[in-house]
Amino acid sequence: MGTPSNETRTNVNEIASGIYRISTPIALDGISGGFTFNQYLVVDDEPLLFHTGPRRLFPEVREAVARVLPVTGLRYIGLSHVEADECGSLNEWLAAAPQAAPLCGQVAAMVSIGDLADRLPRALADGESLSLGTRRVTWVDTPHLPHAWACGFLHESHTRTLLCGDLFTQGGNGLPALTESDILGPSEAFRQPMDYFSHTPNGRRHLERLAGLEPTTMACMHGSAWHGDGGALLRALADAIER
Ligand SMILES: [Fe+2]
Ligand SMILES: [Fe+2]
Repeated sequence: MGTPSNETRTNVNEIASGIYRISTPIALDGISGGFTFNQYLVVDDEPLLFHTGPRRLFPEVREAVARVLPVTGLRYIGLSHVEADECGSLNEWLAAAPQAAPLCGQVAAMVSIGDLADRLPRALADGESLSLGTRRVTWVDTPHLPHAWACGFLHESHTRTLLCGDLFTQGGNGLPALTESDILGPSEAFRQPMDYFSHTPNGRRHLERLAGLEPTTMACMHGSAWHGDGGALLRALADAIER
């Protein structure tokens, strides 16, 4: 993992109504321009933090979340799949938020989180919805897209925000919190040399399912969040990965 960039501390921006992007710019060996680790905080009666950030960034991310709401009030700590940036500080968050449960797909729960986490997860089946109070999130299984058998995403239907994890990963640590500019070009420029997508034959099918949700905000885990026609963007990604 890289170290937090000296230029900027962890920053917090509301990218859709009640959804906050918590972003830490870092310097990363071998990646010019740096990188970002983003978490998304969904504010509701039962607040959700999607992704924890790497374990070593926990103090910075906790402090940033506390600018929006008391950390002890978190109810769910969600993750797309099991990697350090998605859930490296899961147990630190569970200790800081005594009423919180891990929130993940059934594969992640079975394979990893049921053992790694200090508290039992709330495991969502494919297509299952969960109420956070006034809004609902729905889990979509996307095994191996972009990577990891356990992979899946959450869609928040009130703002039509897709918490899209590593999809549309953009390099650089000086990007705006939210953009309507093209992110497919920059994310393809990042993906092709890194080869971090699996080579699943089911990529288009998963992306088509996500496109069918017609999201209008893409909450990317690395780089800017994006606003626009999410269905079209996801279908363009399906074309790009088949090239
Ligand atoms: Fe990942
Ligand atoms: Fe990631």
